[in-house]
Amino acid sequence: MTVTRSFVLLLFVAAGHAQSSGPYDQPYRPQYHFSPKQNWTNDPNGLVYFEGEYHLFFQYNPFGDKWGHMSWGHAVSRDMVHWQELPVALPEENGVMVFTGSTVIDRANTSGFCRNGKPCMVAVYTGHTPKTNSKPALQTQNLAFSNDRGRTWTKYEKNPVLNLNMSDFRDPHVFWSEQKKRWVMAVSLPDDHQVRFYGSPDLKRWERVSEFGPAGATGGQWECPILFQLPVDGDGRNTRWVLKVGLNPGGLQGGSGEQYFVGQFDGTRFVNDNGPSTSLWTDYGKDCYCALTFNNLPPAHQPVMIGWMNNWQYANQVPTSPWRGQMTVPRELALKTFPEGIRLVQKPLPSIQGLREKHATMTGGAAEMKSHSFQLTTALQLGTAKEAGWKLLANDGSYTLVGYDTGRQELFVDRTHSGLVSFSKDFPARTAAPLVRPNGPLRLEILVDRNSVEVFADDGRVALTNLVFPEADAFRIEFYSKGAATPVNADLWTLRSIW
Ligand code: FRU
Repeated sequence: MTVTRSFVLLLFVAAGHAQSSGPYDQPYRPQYHFSPKQNWTNDPNGLVYFEGEYHLFFQYNPFGDKWGHMSWGHAVSRDMVHWQELPVALPEENGVMVFTGSTVIDRANTSGFCRNGKPCMVAVYTGHTPKTNSKPALQTQNLAFSNDRGRTWTKYEKNPVLNLNMSDFRDPHVFWSEQKKRWVMAVSLPDDHQVRFYGSPDLKRWERVSEFGPAGATGGQWECPILFQLPVDGDGRNTRWVLKVGLNPGGLQGGSGEQYFVGQFDGTRFVNDNGPSTSLWTDYGKDCYCALTFNNLPPAHQPVMIGWMNNWQYANQVPTSPWRGQMTVPRELALKTFPEGIRLVQKPLPSIQGLREKHATMTGGAAEMKSHSFQLTTALQLGTAKEAGWKLLANDGSYTLVGYDTGRQELFVDRTHSGLVSFSKDFPARTAAPLVRPNGPLRLEILVDRNSVEVFADDGRVALTNLVFPEADAFRIEFYSKGAATPVNADLWTLRSIW
């Protein structure tokens, strides 16, 4: 017999259809995630730390809320939590769009772009010239530099610096290789499912040094490769390199998704620790794509990654205005050894907790929380239940489930009844991650921010990121179970708006 039990924790986590009309308070507007004030965004670009500021550049259409006229938008932050949007950094010009890329800090002025003996910022991006009736599209790698902390930029007059005369050749990720004392670029050949590596002394002259792939999942184009080094289990003498590659379509949950490879990199060649058929996924939801790590973080700083919280299946249709597109919460990265091997783990930036406002616990009964941006940390004793978890953003007819299925041993987020789902046939979905039933309670950290649900479990080995568009009065948060399970604890905090 299946008993469905439910405890109502809180009735007042409002669904966020606020009346107020401030620039960041429209329906579904994220309150502690970055979204541009208006217009379209996709991938984060050029994440870099420099002179006390974190820079977030992003694929941006200055002229509309659908993809087009791609340029680099720009925002800065002193804590990666509060962001200030600045004017467009790199505009589309002369019919050449500015696609995804990275930013480095040129300390030794290898490029010759830096002034007054000080380090400067150099952006490396893909220039995209759309196809015409007479010519195919062209994608090349290009440079721009700034000597005023990213406030103004100059495109290099001898662009492009790398041109294979190809229509698909994009998304350079550039960093300084200490081993080889040169710049390294990882860049994608999307249709070949290959990442090419180039080396350069000065960011201007690039020499091909190796390639990786095809490997893992190859169901669509490879995009947005990044390569970074991490200690294993916190041991700085035992490191691995992670090569992360976006895949669109062909992601695990349909449409866009991201896989990663764990291996060694000697400054020239990436060698996969696993066989070519192993597919590892950075996220098990539908909405984390083209995630990028920060360059130039101080040595003691934990590596941090931010992704685009969306999926190309419906990115141009999501029902938001006057902006469309947003970023994930910044995530601290680490590598950890599990029985199945070394895996990437991620957890939300701890300083997000600085936004905590009102607090309620399961035993606290109902509380009035006039916010729909919240954090729920919970441990569940699964008992004999077939399924247990949380119904979020619920009213009588709609809800989003974050649950664990003990039979299938998987953690899932089901948004099929989450509110507005009809704008795309690909939106209603149940996304699941394999997760061996824990010996003790199942611990979850859940971040909700009006139109998104990010779930982290198993020390961050499992992340599930999904957009949702809840109904206006979907206020409830309830524990539910099929069979006997109990929440051991559930702590809920509303999170303040960063705007
Ligand atoms: C990935 C992507 C990139 C490209 C950019 C264009 O989402 O397709 O490969 O550089 O978006 O906006």
